[in-house]
Amino acid sequence: MTEARHRSPRRARRSLSLLLTSALAAAGLLVTASPAQAESTLRDLAAQNGGRHFGTALTYNPLNSDSQYRDIAAAQFSAVTHENEMKWEALEPQQGQYNWSQADSIINFAKANNQIVRGHTLVWHSQLPSWLNNGGYNGNQLRSIMENHIEVVAGRYRGDLYAWDVVNEAFNEDGTFRNSIWYQGMGRDYIAHAFRKAHEVDPNAKLYINDYNIEGINAKSNGLYNLVVDLLNEGVPIHGVGIQSHLIVGQVPSTFQQNMQRFADLGLDVAITELDIRMQMPADNNKLQQQARDYEAVVDACLAVNRCIGITVWGIDDERSWVPYTFPGEGAPLLYDGQYNRKPAWYAVYEALGGTDDPGEEPGNPGEEPGGPGEEPGEPGTPGGPCDVDYAVVNDWGNGMQGALTVTNTGSSPISNWTLQFTLANVNISNGWNGDWTQNGSQITVTAPAWNATLNPGQSTELGFVADKTGSVSTPTQFTLNGATCS
Ligand code: XIL
Repeated sequence: MTEARHRSPRRARRSLSLLLTSALAAAGLLVTASPAQAESTLRDLAAQNGGRHFGTALTYNPLNSDSQYRDIAAAQFSAVTHENEMKWEALEPQQGQYNWSQADSIINFAKANNQIVRGHTLVWHSQLPSWLNNGGYNGNQLRSIMENHIEVVAGRYRGDLYAWDVVNEAFNEDGTFRNSIWYQGMGRDYIAHAFRKAHEVDPNAKLYINDYNIEGINAKSNGLYNLVVDLLNEGVPIHGVGIQSHLIVGQVPSTFQQNMQRFADLGLDVAITELDIRMQMPADNNKLQQQARDYEAVVDACLAVNRCIGITVWGIDDERSWVPYTFPGEGAPLLYDGQYNRKPAWYAVYEALGGTDDPGEEPGNPGEEPGGPGEEPGEPGTPGGPCDVDYAVVNDWGNGMQGALTVTNTGSSPISNWTLQFTLANVNISNGWNGDWTQNGSQITVTAPAWNATLNPGQSTELGFVADKTGSVSTPTQFTLNGATCS
């Protein structure tokens, strides 16, 4: 259901220094930089930026069944948030009966990998157990239920967690308080009660208020700001503001940095806690490029604010993201696609954090570059083809698959009557579209349809096919367009 490979975006996002390195290497002027050199990781790079963390949300199932997920989680991230396993409905589905095992398992993983854990979340209106939602409790009862929950949960994990999202999503879009059961029962005092109790139970944890749509300066973030000022004046132990950052491609607020700074100026830490940047599906090259720039803008904004102490992305890969389930028609919001290939956004984050070597593919994932890290056709200093092909597995149902290709003319003259060729073993193509598809063994040829015979410079065309699989199918490594090798 998601993209398998994105080539040109990555090349386009390389930093100047990286390009220079490649060019010097190609000219034989660099003798260092052995291809075997270990790449930096996102967690290392974030740490080099003032000790910041770069975290992810994790979920129990893939962590315990999918070694690639686990490897990336361990290698690239220095902070962990439970995506669901620490929410009230997960921990206490029946009153007084607690399920700790999945939450514990994620904490143990974090400890084993030297990662901090953000506790998410103590007091929220959502994902509450039905006994609580439907209990008809009055204000006093709700206060004691809430404080008891904090005592039990924060008490159990005392010392294990770096921070708690004590209160989550307390605001409406217009900056007024959300009419949650907590607000109904206790008014806005529930927030102060929750923070005081959490501090009493786990005095070393950093205590955050966390919300979405508060990235820029707007009515909602103003409401939060005013609350935080009041809480500080009242001596309530609050230490940080969590800015979820569930964003949309092309819509990173221009006041993001300024907004973080005003909270930092109150003496609070700021963290980006649930970053993802979604797009209308299907993804295409332009959207993935824009997404890369958006991720870069978010990282830049954080790095520009001293007290922006870290960034957490809300999941590892697009396939397992909450976005397609929550925002129908939208998806592809994360740094890895469904096959754990690094997307342009990954490289953008890498570079924004100061990565300068060529990181290549995720270790353990098949690379696309036969020449080894750093040498991709089309790099400055090496001859490049006039075309670029992105290949994606849109769907894979075991004995069959659907593939998609985006073919782009990256040269400066039109390509007419184009013929695309590539090798794909173990498939029988049953249907192909947007071109005339023929197959000779593993050699696939697509010729231009009459209505789309010319690709102008910069223009792309989308091709698709459905195939039966007769064995395992890997990603094509070479494409030619009218005989010229594509990047
Ligand atoms: C989401 C999870 O990602 C989903 O798996 C779950 O079904 C619903 O909650 N704000 C938050 C997170 O604070 O807890 C939410 O996580 C996403 C929005």
